Amino acid sequence: MNPIRYKDNNLFIENLSVEDIAKENKTPFYCYSDQFINSQYDNLTSAFDMDIRVFYSMKANSNASILKLLLNKGSGIDVVSGGEIERAIAAGASGKDIIYAGVGKTDEELRYAIQSKIHCINVESQSELERINDICEELKTKQDIAIRVNPDVDAKTHIKITTGKAENKFGIEFDYTNSIYNIAANLPNINITGVSVHIGSQITSLKPFKKAYTIIYDLINQLKNLGHNIKHVDLGGGLGVPYSEDETIPTFLEYANLIQSIFGNTNLKVYIEPGRLLLANSGLLITKVIDVKTTSQKTFIIVDAAMNDFMRPTLYNSYHEILPVRNNLGTSNKLYDIVGPICETGDYFAKNRKMNSVKPGSLIAIKSVGAYGSVLSSNYNSRPQIAELLVKDYEYAIVRDRIEVKDLIQQEKIAHWL
Ligand code: LLP
Repeated sequence: MNPIRYKDNNLFIENLSVEDIAKENKTPFYCYSDQFINSQYDNLTSAFDMDIRVFYSMKANSNASILKLLLNKGSGIDVVSGGEIERAIAAGASGKDIIYAGVGKTDEELRYAIQSKIHCINVESQSELERINDICEELKTKQDIAIRVNPDVDAKTHIKITTGKAENKFGIEFDYTNSIYNIAANLPNINITGVSVHIGSQITSLKPFKKAYTIIYDLINQLKNLGHNIKHVDLGGGLGVPYSEDETIPTFLEYANLIQSIFGNTNLKVYIEPGRLLLANSGLLITKVIDVKTTSQKTFIIVDAAMNDFMRPTLYNSYHEILPVRNNLGTSNKLYDIVGPICETGDYFAKNRKMNSVKPGSLIAIKSVGAYGSVLSSNYNSRPQIAELLVKDYEYAIVRDRIEVKDLIQQEKIAHWL
């Protein structure tokens, strides 16, 4: 059962009424369902009839409690910065739980990763490879690496989250793969252990995965024939989630069957790096209606959350369902623009949206915000970042405090000549 549902026209997340939570917490705030994340992880892993290891892609939601929850379930963590390594370790990860991807890793970040004895670095350029070798020399150690390959496959997703085409900045150009593996093999402090690929995010068909994974399968055979000891394949993340009820997405079983049909009979260890699919539909952004304003052309519902709290609609034109928390004011035949208070026309959550009636003071819930929600937030317009709550059954915990304006002011200094 979906843990986010109405009971007697009152929105619940697990066994708590959102209205009750909002009585104790200032809006806007994020809240996530513990049960949802748990069951996504279980359903995903049990869809496979082979050994796979999940490395949760923490860029989707890096809250310490979310990391802890997934680490407790046996997940590893896919990180993209030194900061994410630090957070993962603070949440209880050990180096061997961590895979480090990312197109621009600084020497300082690489040194930290190597000192933390992380499981694998997914390397994205020859210079990165050489820098890892040099840092290992300095630290008198060796590092396991995979090369991230760019298979030149169109993931057919939003242009800003497509990563596997030749024109994208990610990975090693396909035709150069053999050469880079040969270079890696000759570097004394590098252990080649794998091949990695990630073609994009919110992918809603299996076709691009099939194409990319088949290319990688053939490549691995070729690399093995050339004498490279490839022990694992890291297939990245990217499987999409339904943001509305009529969106059809491949099931976990279909995704697992595809992976199994390609890699099932190899003796490779298979890793996946899901982010969105574990988190997106676990989360709500709860916000209060400040005003309802009707002009000759539109009716605007102005809420106390804004694009600084949740960027996806304006950044990717993404669709998110929006519901009244208490669904007691009846239906409306109006179309609404649901907008925030920021001084930008791009500050909206939905345009021309049909929605049941609300009035100033009503609470509304923006759905499917658990992934790439809070992590993309900022303090624009001096709006401090909002709280995050994790709900489990009849209780909740505040898993990130709301930041106060005084904290923002405190970080700044007036230049000495002023
Ligand atoms: N692995 C790598 C190397 C990645 O770059 C990403 C996402 C993932 C795994 C996880 O992908 P997922 O399973 O979440 O699709 N802010 C955008 C999404 C950016 C995705 C970046 N990379 C959005 O809100 O749609």
